[in-house]
Amino acid sequence: MDMRTLPALRRLRGRHYLTDLDYSRQDLEDLLVLAVHLKALRQKMRLTPFLPGRHLAMIFEASSTRTRVSFENGFAELGGNALYLRPGEIHLPGRETVADTARVLSRMNDAIEIRSKKNETIEELARFATVPVINGMDADRHPAQSMSDALTILEHAGRLEGVTFAYLGDAAHPCNSLATTLTKLGLNVRIGNAPGYEMDEALQKKAAQIAEDNGGSFMLTHDPLEAIEGADFIYTDCWWWTGQEDEYEARIKAFTPFQVNSALMAKAKESARFMHCLPAMRGEEVTDEVADSDASIIFPQAENRMHFQKALMLALIGIDELPADERLHPIARALLT
Ligand code: CP
Repeated sequence: MDMRTLPALRRLRGRHYLTDLDYSRQDLEDLLVLAVHLKALRQKMRLTPFLPGRHLAMIFEASSTRTRVSFENGFAELGGNALYLRPGEIHLPGRETVADTARVLSRMNDAIEIRSKKNETIEELARFATVPVINGMDADRHPAQSMSDALTILEHAGRLEGVTFAYLGDAAHPCNSLATTLTKLGLNVRIGNAPGYEMDEALQKKAAQIAEDNGGSFMLTHDPLEAIEGADFIYTDCWWWTGQEDEYEARIKAFTPFQVNSALMAKAKESARFMHCLPAMRGEEVTDEVADSDASIIFPQAENRMHFQKALMLALIGIDELPADERLHPIARALLT
């Protein structure tokens, strides 16, 4: 991946981003390159108002801290306006069809971001929308998270190919998306799922095939120590979600051996970094000692949601002309080429 030059990104204009599986390795790498450039500009306090007068509709059927703030502030940094829409405040779900909602929002917005508990809602929205639809997490995928995490890994390892990544715990949204995103980017992915809580078998096969096609590897084990063997990054996520309160006891019992604590980190590679998509249930999947340790990169990881998603929105919405600010032309040219 050449980080020095900006790739031509016009080919991504107008596309939906429902899953990383719809994107080629080159697409994903190009988005990361754009994200790196945008982040560097922000660090130099340079403005990036490429999308003035544009609108982003953000539908959240479930609560969010990072996804909402990163999309909303990220879009504002691109010069546009983002609108936060919650059930009860709009007619979806119930009083208006997903199709009609998609048609109406497309007439007043340049992109739609949606977090839904149902994959079908996101897919139907995309079918009827005439502007890009971005998945802000559905029932079992979180592709904006997995690509933001790839950016974090790239920054900390200096490369992606050949890096070893371990995930411990439940086969929830980030786990599923990380397995396919990271294998496509050439990493070795080691999943440690508790018995009975494994990734879907078809998805495991897909991840293994993607790994084979892209020079990485994929494995799934029930042994947390086997999963973290040689890992440069160790990642975990919550063991239970709202709506799973009845399963609480069973889940805690199943996942306790997968807790990321000091004893587990002591058995990992000395240089291993700790990652978590957050929110963390401290004391369950991770201890304070690890979350707040020098090995932990969870807060830069959270920040990268904004940098990657700015790149994603910019590429999918695109720009029509060079902005007035001469200093911004390299990125603008990449989007116009
Ligand atoms: N990681 C993540 O998606 O966080 P939020 O639920 O706060 O958006």
